[in-house]
Amino acid sequence: MKINENFLNLSENFLFSLIAKKVKSYKEENPDKEIISLGIGDVSLPLSKVVVDALVKASYEMGVKETFRGYPPEFGYDFIKDSIRKYYLKNNVSLDLDEIFVCDGAKSDLGNMVEILGDNRIIIPDPVYPVYVDSNMMAGRNILLLDGNESNGFLPMPDGLSYEESVIYLCSPNNPTGAVYSKEQLEKWVSYAIKSKSLIIFDSAYEAFIRGDYPHSIFEIEGAKSCAVEISSFSKLAGFTGLRCSYSIVPKEILNGVFNKIWGRRQATKFNGVAWPVQRAAEAALSPEGLEACHTNINYYLENARIIKEVLDKYNIFHTGGNNSPYLWMKCPNNMSSWDFFDLLLHKANIVGTPGVGFGEAGEGYFRLTSFQTREKTIEASKRLDEFLKNMRWYYGRKANKIYICNWWSSIIAW
Ligand code: MLT
Repeated sequence: MKINENFLNLSENFLFSLIAKKVKSYKEENPDKEIISLGIGDVSLPLSKVVVDALVKASYEMGVKETFRGYPPEFGYDFIKDSIRKYYLKNNVSLDLDEIFVCDGAKSDLGNMVEILGDNRIIIPDPVYPVYVDSNMMAGRNILLLDGNESNGFLPMPDGLSYEESVIYLCSPNNPTGAVYSKEQLEKWVSYAIKSKSLIIFDSAYEAFIRGDYPHSIFEIEGAKSCAVEISSFSKLAGFTGLRCSYSIVPKEILNGVFNKIWGRRQATKFNGVAWPVQRAAEAALSPEGLEACHTNINYYLENARIIKEVLDKYNIFHTGGNNSPYLWMKCPNNMSSWDFFDLLLHKANIVGTPGVGFGEAGEGYFRLTSFQTREKTIEASKRLDEFLKNMRWYYGRKANKIYICNWWSSIIAW
C-alpha cells in the first residue's frame, strides 16, 4: 500500500511532543530537580465556579431519562452559538447562527480546514504556531513563509507580495511572539486578500488577552466577511484546555456561501459534535458572571507576564509580547541558538521554555516563555531566571562533546 509521503517531510516530532520527551529524560536522570514549565501554553488556574456548576448540572442531566442527550448537533446547539454571537456583538461584529461551527479545539479546525481548500499558494508568517505549516505540508501544499523579525515587530505585512490567489494564516495576538496587529495593519491584509482573491484564516485564540486598542476579531475590519474565516477557542479564554471546546466563524459571503456549505459538509461527515456538558460549560463561560471570572484569570496571567518581563528588562533583553498576550518572546542572550538556550536553561535553572526555532526558521535565536504558570511558580522561575542571567557568563554547558563557555558579553566560545 502507498502512504501519504508528504508526512515523511515533516520533522519527526511535533514541537511540544519533542520538548516533553526531552524534559522527561532530564527528569529521569535528575529526579531530585524541581522543574518549572514555562513551555507549552497550558493553563494552571482551575475552571471557574460558574463553569463547573454548569458542567455538573449538565452531567447529571445525562443520567436522567427526561434530560438525557445523545448525539449533539454537529455544528453545536443553538444556545452556545447564540452566546458566541452575543460575545461578538460586544465588538460590533454581527454573525448569523449558521456561520458559527462549534468544535473540540482550534487546533482541529486549523488542521482540518486545509481539506476543503484547493492547491492555492499558502502564505504563513514565520515564526508561527506549527500547526499551520505542518497541516499544509501534510497536504503537499506550496508554502511561502513571510519573515517576522525585530524590524517589523514580528508582524509581517503583505507589502511586495504578488497578487495571486492564496490562503493566508494570521494569528493575533500572535503565538509565539505575543505581537498584536493594529487595525490599520489588518485593514492592509484584508485589502490585499480582497484584491488578490485570497482567503485569510484568522486565529484569534488569544484575543481575550488584549488590553490595548487592537481588534479582537478580523471581522472588525470592513470587508473581512468576504475574505476571512476566524478560528477561536475557549482554551485560553476560559481555561478549557482539558475540556475541549472551540468554534470557527465561516461567513456566508465567501464564494457566495459555497465555503460555508462545504465546511459544514466536511464537519457533518467527519465530526460528531461537542459533548452536552461541555457546551453548557462553554455557555456559562460566556455569561456575564463567567466572563468576569475569565477576565480575573487572564489578569492573573498578565500579571505573571509582567513579573517575567521585569527580569528581561533588567538585563536589557529584547522581547515582544506579554502586554496583550500570555507569551513573551525573547532574544536568546549571547546570540545563542534557540535549542542551546533551551538546554542551558533546563540544566542550569530547571526552567522549561520553548525554542523559537521550533516555530520556524525566523525564530532561530529566540525563545518563548509563557505566563500560564501559577503565581508561586512564576515568581520562583523569575528568581531563577534572574540568577541565571546574572551568572550566565560563568556557566559551562556540555553539548556534542564540546565544552562551551557562555559569556554574556561575547559569543559562545567553543573548543
Ligand atoms: C502553545 O503552547 O503554543 C499552545 O498551547 C499549543 C496549543 O494551543 O495547541
